[in-house]
Amino acid sequence: MQVLKVVSPLRRTQSLRILAILVIFFILASVSRYQGSYEFSIDEDGQVQSVPSDVTEHDIYFTHHIATFDPKDLRPWTKGDTEALRTPEGQEVVDYLTASSFQAPSPENDHSATVLRNDHFLVLTKRLRVYRTLWHSLKGYYDQLVKEGRQDQLFIAPPTEIAPAVALLQRLEQVSFPWILNHYNSSYDLYRSYNRSKEGGRGIIMCVGDHHTRYARPALKALREVVKSKLPVEIYYNGQYDLSAENRAWFEQFENVKTIDITTVLDNNLLQLSGWAVKPFALLASRFSEAILMDSDAYFLDDPAVMFEDDGYKEVGTVYFYDRTLFPGYGGDEKAWLESFLPSMSNHPSKTRWFNRKGSHEMESGVVVFDKRRHLLGLLAVCKMNDRHEREQVTYVKSWGDKETFWIGLEMIQEQYSFVRYRGGVIGNVGDAIPYKEVLPQEEIERYNQGDAPLTATNPIDPKTKIQTHRKYANMDRVCGNQLHFDQRGQPLWWNSGVYTAYMKDEDGVWDFASSCLVQKNPGAIMEVDWEQRKVAFDILRADRDIAVEYNNPGYKEILEIPRLHRTEGAKGGKGNREAI
Ligand SMILES: *[C@@H]1O[C@H](CO)[C@@H](O)[C@H](O)[C@H]1NC(C)=O
Ligand SMILES: *[C@@H]1O[C@H](CO)[C@@H](O)[C@H](O)[C@H]1NC(C)=O
Repeated sequence: MQVLKVVSPLRRTQSLRILAILVIFFILASVSRYQGSYEFSIDEDGQVQSVPSDVTEHDIYFTHHIATFDPKDLRPWTKGDTEALRTPEGQEVVDYLTASSFQAPSPENDHSATVLRNDHFLVLTKRLRVYRTLWHSLKGYYDQLVKEGRQDQLFIAPPTEIAPAVALLQRLEQVSFPWILNHYNSSYDLYRSYNRSKEGGRGIIMCVGDHHTRYARPALKALREVVKSKLPVEIYYNGQYDLSAENRAWFEQFENVKTIDITTVLDNNLLQLSGWAVKPFALLASRFSEAILMDSDAYFLDDPAVMFEDDGYKEVGTVYFYDRTLFPGYGGDEKAWLESFLPSMSNHPSKTRWFNRKGSHEMESGVVVFDKRRHLLGLLAVCKMNDRHEREQVTYVKSWGDKETFWIGLEMIQEQYSFVRYRGGVIGNVGDAIPYKEVLPQEEIERYNQGDAPLTATNPIDPKTKIQTHRKYANMDRVCGNQLHFDQRGQPLWWNSGVYTAYMKDEDGVWDFASSCLVQKNPGAIMEVDWEQRKVAFDILRADRDIAVEYNNPGYKEILEIPRLHRTEGAKGGKGNREAI
């Protein structure tokens, strides 16, 4: 018995060490790409498949692409993990996860201290995954302390049995999200600060500086006066010089619209926010627990509140929109980049155009819907990708601004997201009313030069370039205009500024990017915009025009003319019938 008593603590330590290695390294080293069981709505090429007959249009795995993780890759934090932290091996893991993000200073390079390590994103992914499991495991303790009104005690005097885990959580927050810690003791406090009430919990967030107000003013006017949205709106700006007092007052004249300086909520000395990067941080800073983040040039055909009823949103707590299919094969090796820092992925990335070099843009982040009650940690990961050094040295080099970070961030921290299956289409007018350049066949140019080419009489060929610039309405196989996004039923929902009688889905055409036209692949792809929606669009244009007049904008003449709103003889204006043509 004596012998056993002596041996057992030793054994205990040994087995703990083994546990430390097994358990923590499980999180760190799992390598897999989940293929998932919900594959039928998108094929290997990233193209939408024909839909099986027994799937209704309301089936969520038809209407959306839902990123699903292999449950094997999602292991919860256990008591064993906490115990493992007490061992030297556990401490090594902690050191690995919290080590400096920057290269060691070298004699050859003074700047290396601000250059991120090559493996920084990989370490970040592992760190974020450990953080997520830890956060959820300690949340119960925090909630209990909140009930007793002494939540600060979690960090000041944590119970012994969880002390190493609490210390790790705090350390991970300090190295990852120091910019929230000016105003909040932890992300738990930030989480708790969000408004969950029925009236104040849901809202719209816009990021607006003085040079965006030309778009943001009509967008807001249209929200309140055309689609009559009652959702509260928070307008974020970046320091007092970003948005003038006059502009702030203009926005606040509307009911339930607040303007907020983001630098009063987050530590901008660390973040050095500018441009696109403000967006995810505004989402984080906002009081809303459920939010629609929209660009100042996004125009809705309906109350944006309908997006909270989107099935993808209700299922997983986020809904995103795809971009147009542009520039296939162009750009870097996005697949290799993702694989370099995501040891495991959901079923989604391998299906994307981005991953398969079928398009250089995947997501359109002009409108993002986010439930922070379910995805605070995912949002922190998205923000991390937009943090100062991360965006400057990696994220914005590898992708176009913030747009892809909303899904890649969630891949890093393993939280689900959904995309409405329809990709960015077009809304505009049938035929290319927009002037564009065309190279004519040589014989036509010669005929013109001989003076017998009437077709070019009003649009002469430039003799030097032999290129004709003209305005022509003859190409009836295309819709030209602005990028359009669809709701889950495939009906137009919102677009990025401009007018309209017709629309087409990305799936049905090929983009001529230079002329902003989507050319149909097969006859019948061009759809008429529903009559009611067209009226809404025209009212939005009127709001746009009012603002231009209000501004006495010198560029006023360039504003698209509002075409006459008239019903074509016999046109029914139904849901996507083809009578526009
Ligand atoms: C943050 O911690 C400090 C003490 O460390 C405490 O005084 C303060 O009340 C805490 N804040 C919140 C929101 O719990
Ligand atoms: C939430 O928002 C509502 C409506 O604006 C407000 O009345 C309420 O005080 C807010 N609650 C919190 C906790 O901020």
